[in-house]
Amino acid sequence: MVISFCCGKGGTGKTTSTYNIGAALAKAGKQVLLVDNDQQGSLTLAMGYEPQMLSMTLANLMFQAIDMPDQLTDAIGQAILQKTENLHLVPANNKLAGILSRLVSMQNTRAMFPLDDSSIAPERVLTAIIEQVKDQYDYILIDCSPHLDLQMLNALVASERAIIPTQAHFLDTVGLNDTIEIIRKVQQSLNPNLKQVDILLTMFMQRTVLNQISRQNVVERYGEQMNIFSQPIDYSIKVAEHPAVGISLLEYAPKNAAALSYRAVAEEVMKNG
Ligand SMILES: Nc1ncnc2c1ncn2[C@@H]1O[C@H](COP(=O)(O)OP(=O)(O)OP(=O)(O)O)[C@@H](O)[C@H]1O
Ligand SMILES: [Mg+2]
Repeated sequence: MVISFCCGKGGTGKTTSTYNIGAALAKAGKQVLLVDNDQQGSLTLAMGYEPQMLSMTLANLMFQAIDMPDQLTDAIGQAILQKTENLHLVPANNKLAGILSRLVSMQNTRAMFPLDDSSIAPERVLTAIIEQVKDQYDYILIDCSPHLDLQMLNALVASERAIIPTQAHFLDTVGLNDTIEIIRKVQQSLNPNLKQVDILLTMFMQRTVLNQISRQNVVERYGEQMNIFSQPIDYSIKVAEHPAVGISLLEYAPKNAAALSYRAVAEEVMKNG
């Protein structure tokens, strides 16, 4: 099962959710690969690695998949970092920006020479990488950047499920429409295997009227077309602290309310996928 964490808005909890749901799945005994698909390298950093010090990252793998696909398997082996026995990471850093411009130029070339189909499609480069490792993992979770660009499209084309983390705030929940529209387009034209779409409410404060009303609005507005996780992720300062020490929230503060909510969401993920 390949799952993209995406939302066209910044700071909604995509990276935090990818890491901690991944950690919860690994704790439940699943073999888990996380993919940092964001040039900010936040997931890589939160997992305790220094993005700029890494010589093999997702950018190298994507260039390899485009230019030297026959050497891709070896490169993937070199790039994957083993955080724990069954929680692995394909890291990223700002070199991923170079890949985006390459993907855009591939797209332009395809528009100009539509009959030349010998090279890989610009939206399927990440799929080619994931195909190589899919058999080794129960779950592959992809952390996307907040930009609705070709890099995110690559993630959605490679995925069977998309989880949209969002804060229960008025502007954030209204802003979901753009992300959902892209997902629908991918489902219709590029990836019919992207069957399930979920909304995950993050940084949730049970006692605030704003969060309760926003949650109700999300359920009314989207509840019929997609799954809304029954467990929102609680707001807690511990969540903001744990990336600084490079370990997951589940290890940093196992009894914290947000850690418990991430465990519950991981259970829900395992139940329906
Ligand atoms: N449940 C929570 N409680 C408190 N703080 C949180 C919670 N979830 C995330 N945060 C904090 O909010 C900030 C944004 O979270 P995160 O980096 O996961 O969002 P993002 O969607 O990945 O951002 P970007 O769009 O920049 O990639 C971080 O500082 C993070 O530590
Ligand atoms: Mg992020």
